[in-house]
Amino acid sequence: MCGIVGYVGKDNAKDIVVDGLKRLEYRGYDSAGIALIVDEKICVYKKQGKIRNLEIELHKLPIFSNLGIGHTRWATHGKPDDVNAHPHVDCAEKIALVHNGIIENYSELRRELQGKGHKFTSQTDTEVVVHLIEEELKNSSTFFEAFLKAVRRLHGSYALAVITLYQPDTIFVARKDSPLVIGLGEGENFVASDVPAFLSYTNRVIFLDDFEVATVKSDGVSVFNYDGERIEKRVTVIPWSLSQAEKAGYKHFMLKEIYEQPRAIADTISGNLNWFHGETELKGISPDSFNRIQIVACGTSYHAGLITKFYFENLAGIPTEVDYASEYRYREPIVDGKTLVISITQSGETADTLAAMRLAKSRGAKLLTVCNVIGSTATREADAVVYTYAGPEISVASTKAFTTQLTALFLFALWLSRSRKTLSEERVERYLKELLEVSSKVETLLKLEKEKATIKNTALEFYRSKDALYLGRNVNYPIALEGALKLKEISYIHAEGYPAGEMKHGPIALIDENVPVIVVATKGKVLDKVISNIEEVKARKGRVIAVTNPDVKKVKELAEYTLEVPEADEYLSPLVNIVPLQLFAYYIADFLGYDVDQPRNLAKSVTVE
Ligand code: AGP
Repeated sequence: MCGIVGYVGKDNAKDIVVDGLKRLEYRGYDSAGIALIVDEKICVYKKQGKIRNLEIELHKLPIFSNLGIGHTRWATHGKPDDVNAHPHVDCAEKIALVHNGIIENYSELRRELQGKGHKFTSQTDTEVVVHLIEEELKNSSTFFEAFLKAVRRLHGSYALAVITLYQPDTIFVARKDSPLVIGLGEGENFVASDVPAFLSYTNRVIFLDDFEVATVKSDGVSVFNYDGERIEKRVTVIPWSLSQAEKAGYKHFMLKEIYEQPRAIADTISGNLNWFHGETELKGISPDSFNRIQIVACGTSYHAGLITKFYFENLAGIPTEVDYASEYRYREPIVDGKTLVISITQSGETADTLAAMRLAKSRGAKLLTVCNVIGSTATREADAVVYTYAGPEISVASTKAFTTQLTALFLFALWLSRSRKTLSEERVERYLKELLEVSSKVETLLKLEKEKATIKNTALEFYRSKDALYLGRNVNYPIALEGALKLKEISYIHAEGYPAGEMKHGPIALIDENVPVIVVATKGKVLDKVISNIEEVKARKGRVIAVTNPDVKKVKELAEYTLEVPEADEYLSPLVNIVPLQLFAYYIADFLGYDVDQPRNLAKSVTVE
C-alpha cells in the first residue's frame, strides 16, 4: 500500500532514498517524504503528490547524509497532504519513522500518549508509533529496548523504519503483515518494502518475517525476534536485473508487461518443471491428501481462479469452489483436513487473501499459494508455494501475472491429473506440449500487432464510449470479466463482463449503437452458442468486436471488428484470448491520456481491508 526505503552507508542517503522511492511509487503515490540525519539533527522533508514534488524541493538543498529513510504513501488514515505525509517525528524531534500498514489500536494509544503530554501533528495512525517509542525510552536502557517495547504494543499491520539521534548510525526496522526486505551491500545496507528500490545496488536480500525486528548499520545487519533473541536469516539472491524492473523502452510498464508474457509464460513453465516431473508431493501436499479444492483470490487473480476451476474439475476430477477472498473471510466455509485451499496472489500481500488463508488454516485446511513475489507473506504462511516467474509486475493493472498464474495452475492440474490417473500419461504429455506452445502463440499475436496495429486501431474507434459489455462462455467467461476489469480500471469507462448466455436475462437492454460489445468467440464446444449471442447483439444494432480464430468465418462475417488470435486448446485459449483485451484497454487508456500504470484510486498491492 505504501513504499518505504532506508539507506545507511558511504554515499548520500538523500539521493539513494529518493531514487528508491521512485522505483516504489507504484505502491502508493499520494504523498512522499524523507528524513535525514544531518549535523546531529533530523531533517524532514515531505510533500503531497508524486515524488517529483519532493524531488524538486530537495534538489535545491545541498545536504549530505549517510543515513536516511523515506516513504511514498497511499493514504489509509488522514487525507493525503504535507502534514499527514511520512516521516513522522516525536516531540523532541530526535526520532523519525516511516510506516506501511495500519495500526489498528492507534486510537487508544493516541489517547494514552496525549494523556502523558505528547503533542500530535497529524491525523495518521502511524504517528502514535514514534511517540510510543519516545515514551518507552523513558524507562529503557537502550533505544533498541524502547523500540522493541513499543513495537510489541502495536496491533495491526506494519513495516516500520526508524532513525534516531540516540543512535545515529542505525536504522531500526520491524515487520508484521507488511513486507520489508533488507538489501545487503558492500559497506552499505538498504531497507525497503520491495526489492526494485535498491536492485541497482544489490540483489542480495534478507526477507524479514512477521514479528521480527532488525538493526541495520553500514557494516552489518542483526535480526531479532520479539523476545530480543538474535536469529539467523537466509540471504536470498534475487534473479531479477534492474532492467526487468524498469520500462525497457516501452511507454508504460503495462505495455512492457503485456509484451513480456511469452517470456513470463515460458519461465513459469521451466521454473516449475522440476516438481512437475520429479516430485510426488509438494512440501507435504500430495495429490491424495485432499478431496476438494477451495480457491481464494481478489480481482484479476480471482478471474484466474474461475478458469482454474475448469482445470481441476474437468481434468483432475476434483470438486472446486472459487471465492472472492474478501467474501470467504467472513463466511463460515466448510473446511477440513481433506480440503486444499489455494490462494492466488501476485503480490502475496493482499490483506483479504491473507485473511482468507489464515481462516482456512485455522480450520485445518492445507494451504497452497500461487504467487509472484519471493518471500512475500503469502509464500511464508502457505504450506506449499507454486511460484509464477513473471518478474516484477509494476503496472497496477495485472497482465503477465494473470497469464502466468494460469500457466502455473494448469501445470498443477496436470500434475494432479497424472497422479490421480484421471488423465493418461500420454494425454498429460500432450497437454504439456500444448502449454509449451502457448508462449509462441502469444509471441505470434504480439508480433502481428506490432506490424498491423489492428487492436490499437480498433481500440481507438471506441475511446469515447461510456459503457462496454464483454461476453464469453465456459472457460472464456472469466476472460470477459478480466477484459472488462482491464478497461474500467485504467480508462475509467464503465465495463461489465457477463456470461454470454446470461445476456438475454437483462444486460441485453443495455445494447444500442453506442455500446461496444466485445465477444470472446474462439473455437470450442460453445462456439455456436456464442455465435447466436452475437446475432442477438447485432439485431439490436450493437457494435460487435469479436476475439476469434482466423478461420472462424461466421464470426468474421457477423462482427464489425475482429481481433484474431492463434488457435489453442480450449482450456488454454484464455491465455491467448486475454492478450487482445489487455491491449484494447491499454490503447484506450493511453489515448485518453490517463496514467496507465498508476490509475486513480488504485494501488498495486491492497494490503488493507
Ligand atoms: C488487477 O488488474 C488489479 N490491479 C487487482 O484486481 C489485483 O488483481 C488484485 O488486487 C489482487 O492482487 P494480488 O494478485 O496481488 O493478490
